[in-house]
Parts: sequence; C-alpha cells; structure tokens
Amino acid sequence: MIASVTFDEGSGSPTMPELEPQRRVEIVPETLRVGLVGCGAFARFSLAQYRQLPGVVISAVADIDPAAAQRAAAELQTEPQSPEALLVSPDIDLVYIATPPALHHRQAATALLAGKHVLAEKPLATTLADAESLASLAARQGRICVANLVERYNPLAQVVGQLIDSWILGDLLHGLFINEAADEGLARGHWFWNRDISGGIFVEHGVHFFDLVASWLGKGVVVSAARSVRANVGGQPVIQEPVEEQVVCTCRYKGSRQAENQPHAGVLFHFEHGFHQASRLDRQELRLVFERGEVRLYDWVPTRGEFRGLVDDDTLGVLAHMLPGSSVRTVERYAGDSRRMRGRFQPFEATALVEIGFDLGLGKMDLYGQVVRDLAADQIANIRDPAHVRRLTEADSVAAVAMACEADRLALSSR
Ligand SMILES: NC(=O)c1ccc[n+]([C@@H]2O[C@H](COP(=O)([O-])OP(=O)(O)OC[C@H]3O[C@@H](n4cnc5c(N)ncnc54)[C@H](O)[C@@H]3O)[C@@H](O)[C@H]2O)c1
Repeated sequence: MIASVTFDEGSGSPTMPELEPQRRVEIVPETLRVGLVGCGAFARFSLAQYRQLPGVVISAVADIDPAAAQRAAAELQTEPQSPEALLVSPDIDLVYIATPPALHHRQAATALLAGKHVLAEKPLATTLADAESLASLAARQGRICVANLVERYNPLAQVVGQLIDSWILGDLLHGLFINEAADEGLARGHWFWNRDISGGIFVEHGVHFFDLVASWLGKGVVVSAARSVRANVGGQPVIQEPVEEQVVCTCRYKGSRQAENQPHAGVLFHFEHGFHQASRLDRQELRLVFERGEVRLYDWVPTRGEFRGLVDDDTLGVLAHMLPGSSVRTVERYAGDSRRMRGRFQPFEATALVEIGFDLGLGKMDLYGQVVRDLAADQIANIRDPAHVRRLTEADSVAAVAMACEADRLALSSR
C-alpha cells in the first residue's frame, strides 16, 4: 500500500537542497528495466521511443484504467501490474511516471524510497515544496529524479544557446514566446482544466519553456503575471469551476555579470500560453531580439526558424555555418559610408541586411521522438556512469516548477 510509505518532506527551508545525487556504488544491470506508470496519450508516444533505446527494456506497465493498461501491456506482450506494485517492484530499475501532474510527487517518492530511478513527466510536481522534497529524496537515495523537460534537447535550442554565448549578434535584449495552443483534444471534463490536478497552465505547461530559457540564460525571476478565464461556453456563462484558458508573464534574466549589479538590467522575456484554438490553428512562435537582429523559431517543438538582421561578411559566414539547412536572402547591401551604423550608443559596421531561413529537415513528430529519446538516453548514461554530465538535472526540474509556481501565484493575485 502506498499509504504506508512515509518520506521526509524536507525542512521547508527556502535554501535549495543539495541537488546533484551522490550515486552509491551500484551494479546497474546490462539491460535497464523500465516500468511505466500511467499509460495515457503521452506515455504511449514515449513508450514507442524508449523501446528504441539500446540496453533498455520496458518490462512492466500499470494504469488505474484497466483498458489503458491492457492496451500498453498487449504491445509489450506482458500483463499489466497495479501501480502500487510496479512502483516498488524489485524487477524495475527506473520508473517512468506519466500520470496527471498532481500524482507525480507521491508516485515518484514511493519509487525513490524503493530504490528506483525516476523519470517523471513534467511538471516534476505541482508545488515547489513537493518538487524540492523529491530532489532532496533523490539525492539521499543516490537516484536520479528528473522531469521530462525535452525542449532543451532540441538541436535548435542548442544553436540558439551558441548564438547567445558567442555574442555574434550582440547582446540578447528581449524574448517572446507566444503559444496559441489547441484545446480541441481537451474536453470540458479533462484533468487539464482542473487546477487541483494540473497545477494550472504555468505549472502543467509553462515549465517546458521556463526550462528552455533557463538553459540559455540561467536563473530568472518572474516580474509580473496575469491570467484569463473563459467567460462563457456556447453563450452560457461559466459560473462554477472557472476555465483558466490563458496565462501571461514577464520574467527577467540577468544573463551577464554586468547586469547582476544593475537593478532593472537584464533580458526581459514574455511568455504567453493560451489553450483556445482548433487543432489546425495550433501555433507557436519564439522570438529572440538581439542587438544586430532577430531570431524566430516556429512550432511547439521547433524544427525551423528565421534570422533577419545586419551582418558583415564574417558574421554571415559563421551564421550560415551554425544555422542548419540555411538559405540566405540578401535584403540590402551596404558599401562605403552606408556601412556605418549606431545602436545603443555604439558604432558598428554591417555590409548587408539579410534574411536566413533554417530548417532541421525533420518532421515535427520525428523531432519530438528524437528529443524524448535523447533526454532518456542522457539520464540513463548518468545512471550507468555517474561521471556522465547530464544536460538536465533535478535542480533544473525544480527551478522550472519554482518559476511556474511564482508566475501562477502572481497571476492569481493580479487584477
Ligand atoms: N513531455 C511532454 O512533452 C509531454 C507532452 C504531453 C503530456 N505530458 C505530460 O504527461 C502526463 C500525462 O499526460 P497525458 O496527456 O498522457 O494524460 P492522459 O490523461 O492521456 O494519461 C494519464 C494516464 O494516467 C492514468 N492514471 C491516472 N491516475 C493514475 C494512478 N493513480 N496510477 C496510475 N495511472 C493513473 C490515467 O488512467 C491515464 O491513462 C502529464 O503530466 C502531462 O503534463 C508531457
């Protein structure tokens, strides 16, 4: 029985726990045995990815919905287990938890206490205290426990990180993420709309993009936030259980040491998430404004983007090399004195205004599958060899929840 399991919720101290687990000397079997708890829509997609990983076998599945469990078990030619049994099973090394968000904390804690590694769906937990207590418990148990925050594993996210770090386009000044998402698959009774289960849009969904931006710019603070609820459905007012359908927030990232010492300095980033579109209108855009131009990425798992900005010949060569599948269009050429420009009190020279389209040449779902596999492979490499440095840690998973919960708190108290 899960109810008999207890675990330390932590001291409640605001200081972050020691988050990088000190791995015990353990014998990791040649084939890592993965158990899947929650066999819903996303789990079935992940399952297809994990089955492609070398040295990994999905050896057990569980769901409270017998039909869902049976469907997944049939694919694996096995019998479903109960979630309670799977979480503590001696035959499992890693538990992948793909249940609705409010269950992640209790299920992950149970698995950690039983000595399992945990890969939880995002968010790691729906409160900061719960996320921190999982990270502490993972560290004490010497096990990994991360959320499936796949965005930072996108090769385009890594290219953007290189653009920022190389400073080839000057300072990053501003970011904007606009997410006009579909709600066509989210019926009125879906757990997504129930804040007690989902944690709200920032927590359920926003964590992905808080983590992505943190992978580029480090720790951020939420400056302001707001939300809107659906006023009516089909002309009828929504009186009970308001439907939160849109959230917005502005965050600041210091990004550089100079900015650390300057109040109000740093990169301002706006996030908007709305769940109110038909599936065929589902669209996302991420815009990054640099001193010398602007980068845009499109879609929820971006496969393509554009750059428009001022370049000299060297910069153009480097950009064309860095941006995958790039095609350059020259908008204007500059010669002689017209090369001299100014911005932010500084002179600089440019030889052209260009537009560069870039494309990974992958379908969206192919890339989605790739990032799901890459995240799991990265974590499993660390289980096998603790010297392997992961690209996503417990601290990152907690930090995304921290930003989301703060944005949610501010949004709830906004006018
Ligand atoms: N990483 C990503 O890109 C991504 C994408 C989509 C969804 N998700 C996350 O995946 C999780 C699941 O989302 P979904 O869309 O698949 O939801 P879903 O409703 O389709 O699936 C959830 C499953 O959990 C089962 N379940 C509920 N309570 C359970 C319990 N106590 N024990 C075992 N099983 C239980 C349900 O019966 C259902 O089959 C959520 O946390 C969501 O945020 C992540």
